[in-house]
Amino acid sequence: MTDRPQGFDTLAIHAGTAPDPATGARQVPIYQTTAYVFKDADHAARLFNLAEVGYIYSRLTNPTVMALANRVAALEGGAGAIACSSGHAAQIMALFPLMGPGKNIVASSRLYGGTITQFSQTIKRFGWSCKFVDTDDLGAVSKAIDKNTRALFCETIANPGGYITDIPALAKIADRKGIPLIVDNTTATPWLCKPIEMGATLVVHSATKYLTGNGTVTGGIVVDSGKFDWSASDKFPSLSQPEPAYHGLVFHPTLGNMAFTFHSIAIGLRDLGMTMNPQGAHYTLMGIETLGLRMERHVKNAQQVAEWLEKDPRVEYVTYAGLKSSPYAKRAKKIVPKGAGALFTFALKGGYDACVKLIDNVKLFSHVANLGDTRSLIIHSASTTHRQLSPEQQVAAGAPPNVVRLSIGIEDVADIIADLDQAMAKATA
Ligand SMILES: Cc1ncc(COP(=O)(O)O)c(C=O)c1O
Repeated sequence: MTDRPQGFDTLAIHAGTAPDPATGARQVPIYQTTAYVFKDADHAARLFNLAEVGYIYSRLTNPTVMALANRVAALEGGAGAIACSSGHAAQIMALFPLMGPGKNIVASSRLYGGTITQFSQTIKRFGWSCKFVDTDDLGAVSKAIDKNTRALFCETIANPGGYITDIPALAKIADRKGIPLIVDNTTATPWLCKPIEMGATLVVHSATKYLTGNGTVTGGIVVDSGKFDWSASDKFPSLSQPEPAYHGLVFHPTLGNMAFTFHSIAIGLRDLGMTMNPQGAHYTLMGIETLGLRMERHVKNAQQVAEWLEKDPRVEYVTYAGLKSSPYAKRAKKIVPKGAGALFTFALKGGYDACVKLIDNVKLFSHVANLGDTRSLIIHSASTTHRQLSPEQQVAAGAPPNVVRLSIGIEDVADIIADLDQAMAKATA
């Protein structure tokens, strides 16, 4: 073996894992286990002091779950990662070390509807708040960041419209303001985009989507780049000052580029308990082995479906950023050069009523509130995933009432198009 860096597909199969040290099992075993026997009292104390890395209790770390976290860290080019019980849990876990009562985040107005609700409503109960801005307006982003802002948050490919975010431009602003950029890379996956290489500090995932890839798991991941200097200001006391929740340990710089990851395990998972289960981690590890192959087909199919839809006289517009006509086409070449993802919306002539009829008449597509499955999926975002938003927020998020969202699967593309064609015929008759 040489030290040359391994390619994406090699890492997707091997990173974070080795043959099981106890049995030699080649595949990562499901360690359906809660607690781990200490060698002696000194060993136990060293583990609790973070002086030695090892397993204590599965709310914190578990061998199968850590294999997944380490694999995703490798794929994203991060220093460390933690796996969580859902994508939404990962978002809270990413914010937890950074925030405190009275602190805020600045987030893109184009996000998954559930995230907009989490940020506009639920985090208020922790004393946190969020200001939403159009991240295409870099001046507005800069202006929104104030002395209490602790992070900037965006999605690489925004759900549901498939709009592409200018990650390097946002990273520059975050850098200038001394705050981390958090990128939700769920809809792109590291196969299409590696936000850390573009300047992101933290990457979050809903592993529920493409990482697992077949609708079997609810899970999330937080990856830390290990590059942010948490001690450069007094903005992040939980990381840079003695932490009362961990017998006064100063996580950064003591734990170097693993400070955020260790904090997330030792305090975040310990006290919030948003832990992924070993069975879920195992399914996601299986899914990731074929991530590159699947994403290649997802984007190829999505491009063909979007081009077919755009030419169809029954269609008003298609938001796929891979289309030459898209205002995001140029940016897509820079941010996601291998393809603009497989998630987008389109508007049918006939508005809301036609959309509903279309959804009721598809046969191959599944009408579900999910994305990133091998199966093609369809939903009317405004009345479902983005329902809790005001009409203005729905429009800003790219989910107006006259569009349907497609998550294009990896079936034969001719069958995907044929299904849309027959359902559109009925919807616009
Ligand atoms: C882009 C994006 N981020 C995060 C989430 C939340 O993930 P989960 O459903 O795993 O909590 C979703 C869910 O649809 C999503 O689409």
